[in-house]
Amino acid sequence: MKTALVTGASRGLGRVIAKRLAASGYSVGINYARSAQGAESVAEEIRTAGGTAEVFGFDVTDEDQVQVGMAQVLSKLGQLDCLVNNAIGHHDLIPIEQQTWEDHWDQIKFCSKAPVLLMREIVGPWKERGSGRIINMGSEVADIGNESFAHYVGAKTAMVGLTRSWARDLGPHGITVNLVAPGFITVERHEEMAKDEMVADYLPHLPFNRMGLPEDIAGTVAFLASDEASFINGQTIAVNGGRTLA
Ligand SMILES: NC(=O)c1ccc[n+]([C@@H]2O[C@H](COP(=O)([O-])OP(=O)(O)OC[C@H]3O[C@@H](n4cnc5c(N)ncnc54)[C@H](OP(=O)(O)O)[C@@H]3O)[C@@H](O)[C@H]2O)c1
Repeated sequence: MKTALVTGASRGLGRVIAKRLAASGYSVGINYARSAQGAESVAEEIRTAGGTAEVFGFDVTDEDQVQVGMAQVLSKLGQLDCLVNNAIGHHDLIPIEQQTWEDHWDQIKFCSKAPVLLMREIVGPWKERGSGRIINMGSEVADIGNESFAHYVGAKTAMVGLTRSWARDLGPHGITVNLVAPGFITVERHEEMAKDEMVADYLPHLPFNRMGLPEDIAGTVAFLASDEASFINGQTIAVNGGRTLA
């Protein structure tokens, strides 16, 4: 059975991605930092549907925790076939005058540091074996450059560069690295925000008559993880109904 680790899968897009990969036949590692209950409920949903899942609580931005956590992942799941770098912390808008280096670093920790820490735990055996999939969760904001959002936009843009460079490093070893760039997709956390207003502001920018769904993102991740996508490498796949068409 193929195996996948989805970081930040206790809720939001990660939760749906984990369920989708499980439905595609993967034994899935559900990573979380704080929401143990959420992560357990995702694993339970997967098991109830006949799939296989294990829960792994560790902070993907902490080097020591990643080393210990990944040792547990590899011991329980066996060698990974697919890593989905999905976890993200809070990323509220911050007016430019108030942005600090720490605000930027907080995002870089998720978009560069965590993927690097995780990659280091798997890349050696993957190169020897000659296969593996890394799927990074970017964002359309890297194309849009949203105002008061440079901390998040910059970090997500760095992730595009990292994806492209790793694709060259690892492609010769049969490993693909791609990035999925979602548009605005409402998830659980938006329930506490002005969700309806946010949707009303966003929808007119779409050359499409509906919002994107977590399943749109999860389906793209599952495709990139599949054998059919074995010749796709270093690409950014926008999943936003055409929001970033020139
Ligand atoms: N939703 C959108 O509109 C949208 C649009 C474009 C791109 N994206 C990208 O898609 C990805 C998922 O977004 P989302 O909206 O689903 O986020 P979300 O609902 O905020 O979920 C974030 C997940 O990350 C986990 N997490 C937070 N800090 C962590 C840490 N230090 N270590 C491990 N896990 C941690 C959270 O678990 P805990 O609760 O346990 O901390 C949670 O499971 C992100 O990369 C985001 O940038 C989302």
